Amino acid sequence: MNTTQRAALIRAYGDASAVELAEIAKPEAGQGQVLVRVRAAGINGIDWKVREGYVRDAFPLQFPAVLGVEMAGIVEAVGPGVTRFQIGDRVMGPVGGLGAYAQFVAVNEAILSRTPQQLDDVHAAAVPLAAVAAWQSLHHAGPIRPGQRVLIHGAAGGLGGYAVQFAKRAGAEVFATAAAADADYVRGLGADHVIDYRTQRFEDIAREIDLVLDYVGGEVLERSWQVLTSTGAIVGTTSPEILARTPAGRRGLWFINQPDAALLERLAAEVANGTLIAKLSEVVGFDELPAAIERNRTKPHSGKTVVDFSR
Ligand SMILES: NC(=O)c1ccc[n+]([C@@H]2O[C@H](COP(=O)([O-])OP(=O)(O)OC[C@H]3O[C@@H](n4cnc5c(N)ncnc54)[C@H](OP(=O)(O)O)[C@@H]3O)[C@@H](O)[C@H]2O)c1
Repeated sequence: MNTTQRAALIRAYGDASAVELAEIAKPEAGQGQVLVRVRAAGINGIDWKVREGYVRDAFPLQFPAVLGVEMAGIVEAVGPGVTRFQIGDRVMGPVGGLGAYAQFVAVNEAILSRTPQQLDDVHAAAVPLAAVAAWQSLHHAGPIRPGQRVLIHGAAGGLGGYAVQFAKRAGAEVFATAAAADADYVRGLGADHVIDYRTQRFEDIAREIDLVLDYVGGEVLERSWQVLTSTGAIVGTTSPEILARTPAGRRGLWFINQPDAALLERLAAEVANGTLIAKLSEVVGFDELPAAIERNRTKPHSGKTVVDFSR
């Protein structure tokens, strides 16, 4: 039996060259865990933030550290106490930390969802983090009421694409910032007003906003306070600095997503039956992982990039 596996890992924080494709020991399923044979994994902004060491406080690492936070695959083995899954089941989800960019990963069964039959693994791997984080961040400041005005920054991105759809369904009037090239895509998801962030100032178009979802951060956050109603809130996903940068008397909330297997199962079923659009912009092979992680940082993109382990 083969006791080693291929993985994309870092041995120290660094730039794109820090990511190494290496042979390491295959993990075992512990108490309450299943061992998943990974077939596809989703690429996220958190990958290069971890690589660079930007989130070393939130994600303290032991090196070498295998990157990757979400995947889809098949149950290879079950650990003691596992009740929900059997060998051969197709599963998808976050891995509960890092480790998805390996041929095998041991994951607590509680955070995994069954992959819908009609959803292939590459498409399934694009869903877990972004869909659940978009849903949770949209509702983080309280329930959305019909007629509320919601501004979504980074609407063409992984989280943004889902958030536009969820906000529209909840009856909100949706303002969305995106590059001009992505305007039709974002409008097709349900945005009422699409603002080209490169040529237009969102402050001139979006006013009296009840909720800002900030999936971009930096100066976009700074400029967003002025578009809020007096009771409006900004939910930030990019950095906990939002807490220190919230002006007195305003509502600025830092969001951290939580695994929710039942929510993911429901959202994945919607993706499978076509009622929730999940855009896959790029599929890469395992050997392309280091470059694809770097492209998430440097290159304009909409939707999600997935690594297909069969390539
Ligand atoms: N706190 C949490 O629990 C949590 C969970 C998930 C994700 N996140 C974070 O949330 C953020 C969004 O994640 P994601 O996966 O959706 O990222 P993503 O797929 O990289 O999307 C970001 C989008 O923002 C767009 N953008 C860049 N600058 C912009 C600007 N000035 N105005 C408007 N849009 C702009 C990009 O468009 P272009 O293509 O034109 O550059 C891209 O489409 C990341 O920082 C990620 O790390 C946090």
